[in-house]
Amino acid sequence: MVAQNLKGANLKRRDFIKLLPYTLGGVFLFSSKEFIFFDKNNRKRYLIPLKSLKEGVNLHEKGEFFIFKKGKKVEVLNLHCTHMGCILRYYDDKKLFICPCHHSKFTKDGGRIEGPAKRDLDKIAFKIVKDNVIIG
Ligand code: FES
Repeated sequence: MVAQNLKGANLKRRDFIKLLPYTLGGVFLFSSKEFIFFDKNNRKRYLIPLKSLKEGVNLHEKGEFFIFKKGKKVEVLNLHCTHMGCILRYYDDKKLFICPCHHSKFTKDGGRIEGPAKRDLDKIAFKIVKDNVIIG
């Protein structure tokens, strides 16, 4: 029935709503290094191939998190400062994250160095499945 309606370009609101889970649930977006997909609960998740990660800090393009890789060790850390939530900037020359708001400093693997922030950066849960990091 839906297919008929699509062929006839006679898509009704109810039919559109029936199609929505298929369009949202199965959407994969691709950027240079990552896939973004939505699980069955419509949560955004990221799939990033391990081989696309360099040693050290890998900043996420949209500034939500970064991945720290050292040998086989992988950590996914929130890019929001643990003081009041500003988005941190990474200074590759200093190998430091510095908060633009009140200047807290963090190591490249999220350890607090100084500033009004009282704790390390928050870790984000992830899994490694078949040589991919799955976040979310
Ligand atoms: S929000 Fe980062 S130091 Fe205050």
